[in-house]
Amino acid sequence: MTVFPPDFIWGSATSAYQIEGAWNLEGKGESIWDRFSHTPGKVWRGHTGDVACDHYHRYRADVELMRDLGLQAYRFSISWPRVLPTGRGQVNPAGLDFYDRLVDTLLAANIKPWATLYHWDLPQALQDGGGWAQRDLCAHFADYAALVVQRLGDRVQDWMTFNEPWCTAFLGHDTGEHAPGLRDRRLALQVAHHVLLSHGLATQALRAVRGDLRVGIVLNLWPVEAVVDDDDVQAEVEPTWQRNCAWFLDPLYRAAYPSAALAAYGPLAPTVAANDLATIAQPLDLMGINYYHRIALGVEGPPPGAEVTEMGWEVYPQGLTHLLQRLHHEYRLPPLYITENGAAYVDTVTPAGRVPDARRLEYVRQHLHALHDAMAAGVDVRGYFVWSLLDNFEWAHGYGKRFGIVHVDFDTQVRTVKESGRWYSQVIGRGQVS
Ligand code: FCB
Repeated sequence: MTVFPPDFIWGSATSAYQIEGAWNLEGKGESIWDRFSHTPGKVWRGHTGDVACDHYHRYRADVELMRDLGLQAYRFSISWPRVLPTGRGQVNPAGLDFYDRLVDTLLAANIKPWATLYHWDLPQALQDGGGWAQRDLCAHFADYAALVVQRLGDRVQDWMTFNEPWCTAFLGHDTGEHAPGLRDRRLALQVAHHVLLSHGLATQALRAVRGDLRVGIVLNLWPVEAVVDDDDVQAEVEPTWQRNCAWFLDPLYRAAYPSAALAAYGPLAPTVAANDLATIAQPLDLMGINYYHRIALGVEGPPPGAEVTEMGWEVYPQGLTHLLQRLHHEYRLPPLYITENGAAYVDTVTPAGRVPDARRLEYVRQHLHALHDAMAAGVDVRGYFVWSLLDNFEWAHGYGKRFGIVHVDFDTQVRTVKESGRWYSQVIGRGQVS
């Protein structure tokens, strides 16, 4: 039996575009994901987030569900174009009202709201002006952050500026798998820099509005491991870590880009102004880590024989322990939270209305053990948010990949708690994992 500390926070996570729907209702502006998903060929089977889980209309019932599960915290994101339809200037009061009601409903259910300001849905109007490639976006983001916190900061204490800057930069601007679907590595690196700078400016802006907030950022990180005995492969381990992980960690915690990676990028390296790195390296109150799998070098895809999820991702719980230990030894970090971890599997609802998702349950169970191992070794981790509360719009995979601990029938919007959800609820109640 593995016992977690009594004040450990148990939650689940979602994001606005993946669940809200109501993409063009009550004054919401268009986002880059609205545009991208409506562009033929970009998303599996042409799926869009137009309706998604219809959470915009069903949030009260969804919060009830969270209460029934015993969640202590709920990590959601705010849609920038719902609040500011063109990204700046004119405010959409109905948008702010929605998040206001959501927060009040959560608090009434005794669930702590954890808000992410940017989970990938940039206002399309700002993209039309050049998007994250433009340095002036940083100031617009800080203004948006201040606006939201003026409204919600009296009730929301925990704030995350960005979710996974790596994905915004590289999936959005290098591989083109995500909105806005561009393919230009030089641009991707400049975008990464502007996102980091926006994080620094927004952190300052949030604190200027209120001094009592807890502010942080969420990074997706992978341990990098060679899985073949080959010196050339081994030699790639550190550069891969530097390009993918240290590229974000070092500016945040050391006010510098990792020098070897910077040199290797040569002319692709971003333009960085004099005080940018000092602005980026704001002291933080928390850091969120999203962990799904490791980067295994020396093979194409997952190592042969590895267990994989529906995403094709290797199930590798010990990678979470390795990752946390490395971070702990190399950086001076604020308290850590696992802000996402979970797995996509094919689910079926039985005639009796059950969803027996033993593999997802096992995935979460093993990762909680791995997390506990890291904590036992001295890593300061204070909470865990399973991804995701609901099956939802899984970006370029549309509704084809289900990560929820609650099943959603996208025809009827009926929610059914999966076995993993029932089990997670017991974990929360007992504070321990068998
Ligand atoms: C993460 C995203 C989240 C979800 C999971 C599966 O990269 O933050 O929105 O798509 O992956």
